[in-house]
Amino acid sequence: MNAPGKIAVAGATGRVGRHVVDVLEKHGHEVVAISRSNGVDVVTGDGLAEALNGVESVVDAATGASSEQQAATDFFTAATRNLQQLGAQAGVRRIVVVSIIGIDRFAAGDYGGYYVAKQVHERAMLAGPIPATIVRAAQFHEFVAQLMDWGRQNGTIYLPRMRTQLVAARTVAETLADLATGRGPAPARGSEGAPLLEIAGPREENLVEAARLLAEHRGETALIEEAVNNPNDPGDALFESGALLPGPDAILAGPTFEEWLRHQTDEKA
Ligand SMILES: NC(=O)c1ccc[n+]([C@@H]2O[C@H](COP(=O)([O-])OP(=O)(O)OC[C@H]3O[C@@H](n4cnc5c(N)ncnc54)[C@H](OP(=O)(O)O)[C@@H]3O)[C@@H](O)[C@H]2O)c1
Repeated sequence: MNAPGKIAVAGATGRVGRHVVDVLEKHGHEVVAISRSNGVDVVTGDGLAEALNGVESVVDAATGASSEQQAATDFFTAATRNLQQLGAQAGVRRIVVVSIIGIDRFAAGDYGGYYVAKQVHERAMLAGPIPATIVRAAQFHEFVAQLMDWGRQNGTIYLPRMRTQLVAARTVAETLADLATGRGPAPARGSEGAPLLEIAGPREENLVEAARLLAEHRGETALIEEAVNNPNDPGDALFESGALLPGPDAILAGPTFEEWLRHQTDEKA
């Protein structure tokens, strides 16, 4: 990588953000780590102007605590306004935004949820004064633990019936870091003419099998089952039919879930 100016990472302590910081620092870049735990809030704007001072590129990997549609929409709307406006004032030249494969297939209403909030996020970023590149990722290997926590019920863990091509957050972070430094793959144009690329793991994974491997790795003995989807829920139907799977032009990169897990020394992987 070349040595460009400072790079800010919003969501610097998150599943993917922490890897973006690490990859950039390992390549010798000066990184500004943005998160509330680092004293900077992208929603209220507290500390943000100071954090963006002298920054050339921003990676936006921040997300709020709630996945509920309205709360997440409010988060991304405020965060994007602040990053775009204060970033433009600070002379930021590009923003790389983390999004999710397939969000455009979910409509507003009672099944779009967080995916609709992500559409609002993408559009707001693309409408801002700083040029934005959208990186739509598949579900992270690190997200399986979260899905397991959400699905716990009376000693059984229920996983959604969802086709997914899980990818390591580190793999996504490497592409984000490349784009933030002005290198990396040239994004194609999405349906709305926006610079867009997709990244997923090397193969489709079975969520229940991934969760069982993770439970075994942690020494956890809970029963793990696939949840029964609601046949009348268009969101469930989209999950099952592969709406979250990558398209033919996606970057596909390892490790597989099993390979990734083998290298997790932390029991809480
Ligand atoms: N998880 C997945 O499988 C997945 C897959 C594809 C795409 N994505 C996308 O990738 C992005 C990151 O997801 P993630 O799972 O890595 O998130 P995460 O682990 O939940 O991390 C969220 C980050 O945002 C920060 N944050 C939250 N509120 C903030 C605020 N008000 N101001 C500043 N920072 C704030 C958090 O730090 P503090 O709490 O310290 O503020 C944390 O660093 C999201 O846009 C998500 O939609 C995720």
